[in-house]
Amino acid sequence: MNDEMTVLLVEDDPDMQMACRQALSLAGIRSRALDAAEPALPIITPGYRGVVVTDMRLPQGDGISLVKYARSVDPELPCIMITGHGDINLAVDAMREGAYDFITKPFSPEKLVDSVRRALDKRRLALQASQARPAAPTGQGGAGLDRLVGSSARMQAVRRLIAEIAGSPVDVLVHGETGTGKELVAQSLHELSGRSKGPFVALNCGGMPDNLLDSELFGHEAGAFTGAQKRRIGKIEHANGGTLFLDELESMPMGMQVKLLRVLQERKLERLGSNTAIPVDVRVVAATKENLVEKAKAGQFRLDLYYRLNVVTVDLPPLRKRTEDIAELLAHFFVLAAERFARPVPPVGAELLERLAGYAWPGNVRELRNLADCIALGVSTPLLGATLQYASTELASPRSLAESVEEYERKLILEELQRNDGSLARSARALRVAKTTLNDKIRRYGISVAPAEPREG
Ligand SMILES: Nc1ncnc2c1ncn2[C@@H]1O[C@H](COP(=O)(O)OP(=O)(O)OP(=O)(O)O)[C@@H](O)[C@H]1O
Ligand SMILES: [Mg+2]
Repeated sequence: MNDEMTVLLVEDDPDMQMACRQALSLAGIRSRALDAAEPALPIITPGYRGVVVTDMRLPQGDGISLVKYARSVDPELPCIMITGHGDINLAVDAMREGAYDFITKPFSPEKLVDSVRRALDKRRLALQASQARPAAPTGQGGAGLDRLVGSSARMQAVRRLIAEIAGSPVDVLVHGETGTGKELVAQSLHELSGRSKGPFVALNCGGMPDNLLDSELFGHEAGAFTGAQKRRIGKIEHANGGTLFLDELESMPMGMQVKLLRVLQERKLERLGSNTAIPVDVRVVAATKENLVEKAKAGQFRLDLYYRLNVVTVDLPPLRKRTEDIAELLAHFFVLAAERFARPVPPVGAELLERLAGYAWPGNVRELRNLADCIALGVSTPLLGATLQYASTELASPRSLAESVEEYERKLILEELQRNDGSLARSARALRVAKTTLNDKIRRYGISVAPAEPREG
């Protein structure tokens, strides 16, 4: 693969889609295929690392609208149209709408690859230029929806939902097991919202004594309680104009839940020790690992707060329910790890994937990320035992040419000896080497061949 650029291929005809993917794959170009325009929308984000190739005629919507949409999101994103035989006027329209190129059916794989290569080159340059400009730091390899890797139907649905709700003012509840990406979702929502220039303030509601959490959230005036010497601005106020991420909401004490509910309803707060209401403009994104309805039934969570927050819930499926994302995530984390540790990017091998597919992933994506780091560093990990360690040491020090040649020679000799029932003379003749030479090599390579059974006659 040439780099992490991707061709987003929108084509409803399965044969055509397969043919295009194969042509691209043979040329070492990564692609991601969809059979309709709609699911492409959340994927196309500003700075998308790739180009778009779309069929003109699609079941819902059409290629030109998709080109228009893509250009509105990122005017520098190259789009290539695949047009039918008689669609030349439409192709011209598409070019007018800013399409980068068009290819008319039927076309050769070379034609497609050639056009895609040029588009990718152009894209790469545009992205390099925009990187030179200061951009918001991400630290995760991507921004907005690009942060959330995974083409499984479930992850596509998650991205679609995020794209839909990001711009609206609703508060959001994110639910998922540990390590499924709840914080990442919160950050995406923030980046895609009109609040992206405002602050993203995170607060963990767990593991903090009640009174401390209280003043963390709401702030206090000087002298509000013993030890409160100075006025303190709380996290809610800090998040003004931006997003407040409340992590582990399930651990928020009941008393605090009442106060939070009031803030959500009135969009005002009072610092501890003050009666003055301060207006705040925040969007709350709250994360929970637990089922809050169950907690409410057990009397440990306020149903009214739950209902206030669950207008929209983003449910993140555990990794074991979307194992088809593993390869993509692993490749993504390998690139990040290689960058971070200044190591070569490890290959995503079939054998490795096979071992990972059956695993339950209690730590979900975070666990996979840690594993990727270990592999990139060539560190052994209990998860995969000896085989992985072997794979990674091989990776850390690729075999030299001499070693490879010896390995090959050993294999040839062994095969010949087996073919000749272990006869040294016949094998030497077949390999056209002196018997003594062959004997030397057999000893050096530690080849042991069962001597041939004496034959009858
Ligand atoms: N879909 C994804 N694509 C890329 N990276 C992901 C994805 N999901 C999770 N990650 C990465 O996995 C790690 C864990 O994600 P995150 O911290 O968002 O999980 P979480 O649900 O908040 O976990 P916890 O409940 O334990 O706090 C992070 O490094 C994050 O960047
Ligand atoms: Mg988290």
